Order: sequence, then structure tokens, then C-alpha cells
Amino acid sequence: MLVTCTLLKSIKFILEASRVHMENCKPAQHASSCRRQVIFKIEPNMNLTPTAIIAIVGISVFAAISCNNTNQNASQPTAQNSNVPADIFKTLIDSATKARNNAYAPYSKFLVGSAVLAGSGAIYTGCNVENASFGLTNCAERTAIFKAISAGEKRIKAVAVVTDVPELTAPCGACRQVIYEFGRDVDVIMANLKGKQKIEKISKLLPDAFGPGSF
Ligand code: THU
Repeated sequence: MLVTCTLLKSIKFILEASRVHMENCKPAQHASSCRRQVIFKIEPNMNLTPTAIIAIVGISVFAAISCNNTNQNASQPTAQNSNVPADIFKTLIDSATKARNNAYAPYSKFLVGSAVLAGSGAIYTGCNVENASFGLTNCAERTAIFKAISAGEKRIKAVAVVTDVPELTAPCGACRQVIYEFGRDVDVIMANLKGKQKIEKISKLLPDAFGPGSF
């Protein structure tokens, strides 16, 4: 993207000569969205020279291509010191997506799927299970973790959570506490059905946590 920025800056003077205002190299907020935005402000009474028009079209095409590449790279984000190889990362998201179909959420209608990578390498899935007595609802993440531990697993390496909303769903506070029980290094993978994905360490999602080492 550095190349893009340099190119954009060097072309900018052509556009400014035609009074086309351009904002470039603007960092985007979300990891998996395009990292750069190019905004042209062209007013109806402007006299655009052919060079300026060619520059605008060229930059738009270039930005679109590089934006596309950025998104492809972001489709498999990696946390620093992640425990999750790229193929397992995908398997966890696929498993959580499938488990989401079993969600029992007649009250919220908010379907959540989860998949846990346990110490043995096995994957355990879970979904949210709601209850007419709302407070008894169990989140997808805790369902998957409790399945793993009750099957004899001692360690949790990663937890994936999949929902169908544009802004990725991070585990609720209760789930963060339960995840943290299995180590500050557990990777939390968040994904939606549109392919947006990110990964964070539980220690980042639950800083200054109370855990097994706090006694
Ligand atoms: N839920 C989860 O399963 N996991 C989360 O990380 C957030 C919330 C569920 C609980 C409830 O069934 C529904 O989503 C709405 O809160």
C-alpha cells in the first residue's frame, strides 16, 4: 500500500491544478475492510482537463485493485503469537458456521455458532441455547467450551464465534471470563457470514483479568 500512497501523492498535483480535491491514504477502521480510501470532490462548474480525467480514472482503477488485494490479505488475519495455523483457522470458522444452524434462539433470534480448538487438536462446536427464563441462556462459546472440557480436554487453544451481523460479535463478558480460565494466550476468532474475520488474544479482550493465577 506504500506504493499506492506514493503514487497517489505524486499524481495529486495534477488534480490540484484542476482544483480537484483529493483525500488519500486514510486508514480504515476495520481490519478486514479496505485500508485506504480515495475521495474525489468534483464540483459541477469545474473545468477538468483531459489529463485530470485520465488521472481520476487511473487512480480509481488502481485503488479498486489494491483495495481488493488488501481485502484478500485480510481474509486470514493472524494474531501475534497465534496458536492457530491457517487451515485450522478456516476449519474453526466453518465448524462454528455449521453449529450456528443449531442455535436455539426463539427469543432473540440472534443465532450464534462457536467452535473450540482443544489441546488434543480436536474441535468441539456449540451454539447458543436460550431459555424462557432469559438469564439461563447459555452462549455458543460456553456451550462449546463446556463440551470440550466435559469430553476430557484440559486445554483450550482457540475459540471461534460466528454470527450474521456486519460488525463482528465479540464474546460477552461472561464468556470472556470462561475463556480466560484456560489461559491468557487463547485466540478468539470472530467471523460473520459475509467473510469478515478477525483474531484477538483473550488477554486483549479481557485486560487485567481475574483468573487462575489471581489467588
Ligand atoms: N450470544 C452468544 O451466544 N455469544 C455471544 O458472544 C454473544 C451473545 C447469544 C446469547 C443470546 O442467546 C443471544 O446471543 C442474544 O444475546
